[in-house]
Order: sequence, then C-alpha cells, then structure tokens
Amino acid sequence: MEIAISIQKIAKEYNGLRAVDDVSLEVQAGTIFGLLGPNGAGKTTLIKILTTLMRPTSGSASVEGHDIQTQGKAVRRLIGVVPQENNLDRYLTARENLTLHARMHGMHRRDFNPRIDELLELTGLSGRQHDFPDTFSGGMQRRVVVARALVHNPHVLFLDEPTAGLDPQSRRALWDYILSLRSKMTIFLTTHYMDEAEELCERIVIMDHGKILVDGTSEQLKEAFAHSHVYELEFRADGDRYEELIRSLPFIESLERRGGVFRLSLPGEEYLKPLMDSIGSGDIKKICLREPSLEEVFLELTGRKVRE
Ligand SMILES: Nc1ncnc2c1ncn2[C@@H]1O[C@H](COP(=O)(O)OP(=O)(O)O)[C@@H](O)[C@H]1O
Ligand SMILES: [Mg+2]
Repeated sequence: MEIAISIQKIAKEYNGLRAVDDVSLEVQAGTIFGLLGPNGAGKTTLIKILTTLMRPTSGSASVEGHDIQTQGKAVRRLIGVVPQENNLDRYLTARENLTLHARMHGMHRRDFNPRIDELLELTGLSGRQHDFPDTFSGGMQRRVVVARALVHNPHVLFLDEPTAGLDPQSRRALWDYILSLRSKMTIFLTTHYMDEAEELCERIVIMDHGKILVDGTSEQLKEAFAHSHVYELEFRADGDRYEELIRSLPFIESLERRGGVFRLSLPGEEYLKPLMDSIGSGDIKKICLREPSLEEVFLELTGRKVRE
C-alpha cells in the first residue's frame, strides 16, 4: 500500500517543553487515521507541523513524497486543513468563504463554482450559503470549514478535533460526511473522543506528553490493553442481600450497582466460578461479559488525572 504521510522523529520544543517528542509514523493512503490523546498531548502541534504552519525543532516529514520543510508549497496544494478553532471570515458569507479559498488556490471560476455547489449540497448548506457564519450553529460552521478544506480537491485531509463541542446530531452528520470520504482520500484526524475514534478510524494511535503510546485498530488496542474483566449481573430479587454478599468476596475488584443490575470487575475469568459458587445461580436473571471499551484502554494508558 502507498504511504501518504511519513514522519521521521519529529520533535517540537516550546521553551524547553517537548510538546512533540520524536514521533515517527507512517499513514497509508486512502485510510482514516486517528490520533487520540488528552488535552496537551501534542496533537495540534503535530498537525501544525505536518500542514506547514509551524516548523519542527528536529526531524522530517513528507506528504505524498513532498518534504514539509523544503516543498511546503507542493504540500499545501495537496492538503486540506480543518483547524481546531473555526477560522472562517465572519465578514464573508459561507459561499464567499469557499470562493476566497478557491481563488487563493488559483482555481478558475468555471472549476470552482460547480465544485462549491456540490460541496454545499453534500454538507447540507446550500440553503444557507449566502448567510454569514455568525448566524450559524456550531455544527454548521464546522461543516463550512470542512467544505472549504475540500474545495481544491485535496488528497490528504487533516481534521483537528472536528466535532469538539457539537451536539449529538451535528456530530453524527459530520461523522457520516467524513465516512463518505473514506477511501477517496487520506484522512488524518485528531480527537479526544473515544467513540469518534472507534466510529471513524481504521487505525488509532494514542499519544500523550508528545509521545506515541500505542498503535493499532480499536480491536487490537482493546485486546492488548483492557485488562479488566467486567461482568454485569442481574438478579430476580433481593438485590440488597446479594450486594452485601458480593462486597464481602475478597477477589471483587470493583462493584457498581444500578437498581437490580450489578457491574463488577474480576482480576481474571478464573474468578467467575468462585463468584457463581458463592452466590448460587438460583436468583440470577442474567449475567454477561461487558466488552472492554477504548475508554478503559485510554484511561489505563494516559491516567485519570484531569488535564487542563
Ligand atoms: N504556541 C505555544 N507556545 C508554548 N506552548 C505551547 C504552544 N502551543 C502548545 N503548547 C503546549 O504544548 C503542549 C501540546 O499542545 P497541543 O499540541 O495544543 O496539544 P493537544 O492538541 O493534544 O491538546 C501543551 O503543553 C501546550 O500547552
Ligand atoms: Mg489540540
């Protein structure tokens, strides 16, 4: 498979702080790649370097074979960028924002007009194209930024936290749109939402403190890093009696109760039999293994301390 983005030991220091710390990575063409990490992990810094907005302190990278430091112009022609903060021109309408972008890329009116019509249609913005961004919801503004990034038919699309702060409907709409681009171009997105990474990304890299921690599909990461064995148990009756009993068992790692449903974690599946032996199976209505989530993997790797 072809490599769309190639990164060799990229580092970025801000006054001694290594925001990106020797990251090496290759992204296959035509895939949706997800860079997942908590606030301050270094995601935006890495995107800024790859999109030629910022120079690395050391290391090198290329997009479709073009060096980001010596062939910046060629790189910028190939890429579309959706930055973390919406940077629409508020004195231009949605359509004018797209037109300005097309002109800056040297496109001809006869090429960009039909392209802009198409993008406005696909992102559901046709009806509002002559309105100003300030009159749009967060989700609509985000869609304008995505549409703008696609005007010049980029091969590689960078999306920095595309759905941060959006309501569930707007997120879903944007996800569907991103999924519709799958295999038509390479997509490099950052997020701190596990569900987003799971839904969209064929490959996920988790980074923190400037370094890559793990790399794989969501299935691979869950299999390798979610150690807990979490079961859900539901009783027909008398939950209170069982709660006391379960809490008294020495091998129960944690227990949460919601009404008649208990969620408990065991150190390993070999503890399931002793658990069943102690509670007896008579009153159990349901027992099931809960799939480990990407969130558990993320918290295990990046810790539970709150980031600002
Ligand atoms: N322009 C800057 N000057 C100084 N420090 C910065 C600058 N931009 C980011 N940082 C710091 O670098 C680290 C990584 O930031 P960033 O790349 O924005 O992470 P993320 O996008 O994963 O939240 C953070 O500690 C942040 O405070
Ligand atoms: Mg960021």
